Amino acid sequence: MITLTLNGEERLVTSEPDTPLLYVLRDELELNGAKFGCGLGQCGACTVLVDGEPVFSCVTPVMLMNGRDIRTIEGLGTIAAPGPLQAAFIEEQAAQCGYCIAGMLLRAQALLVRVPDPQDDDILAALEPQLCRCGTHMRIIRAVKRAARTLSRAAEAVR
Ligand code: FES
Ligand code: FES
Repeated sequence: MITLTLNGEERLVTSEPDTPLLYVLRDELELNGAKFGCGLGQCGACTVLVDGEPVFSCVTPVMLMNGRDIRTIEGLGTIAAPGPLQAAFIEEQAAQCGYCIAGMLLRAQALLVRVPDPQDDDILAALEPQLCRCGTHMRIIRAVKRAARTLSRAAEAVR
């Protein structure tokens, strides 16, 4: 049995140890935000955060996740109360088909923890492993910067 922390909650996993984390998330734990794109670690649709770092969950066996902290798009906010990044993506209309967006958001989340005031080059480098077939890259960049400004204003307000 594998135990992991998923969006702040301890969960037991009963899937076979070599099952990709993506399948465990979607099929056993019923979180469908992470998407299956290529299944080969090449598109980023399946990206989640493990201990704060982006990983391709389609090529990550769940046996490596024992005791680890996993965050999916469902852990960034809700439909009723979107988190700052989600709100910024909505405001900038950064999603077209939306298939890539969960991965984009999670990689952007990891970036903003590391670089609170990212420039275009920082965002491009951080999101480089993520593919968007719809070509909404410029809106995504604007959305990440908008979220950074929101977070910075919130931090100022509590100083
Ligand atoms: S589905 Fe995992 S990288 Fe494409
Ligand atoms: S919004 Fe469609 S793949 Fe990115």
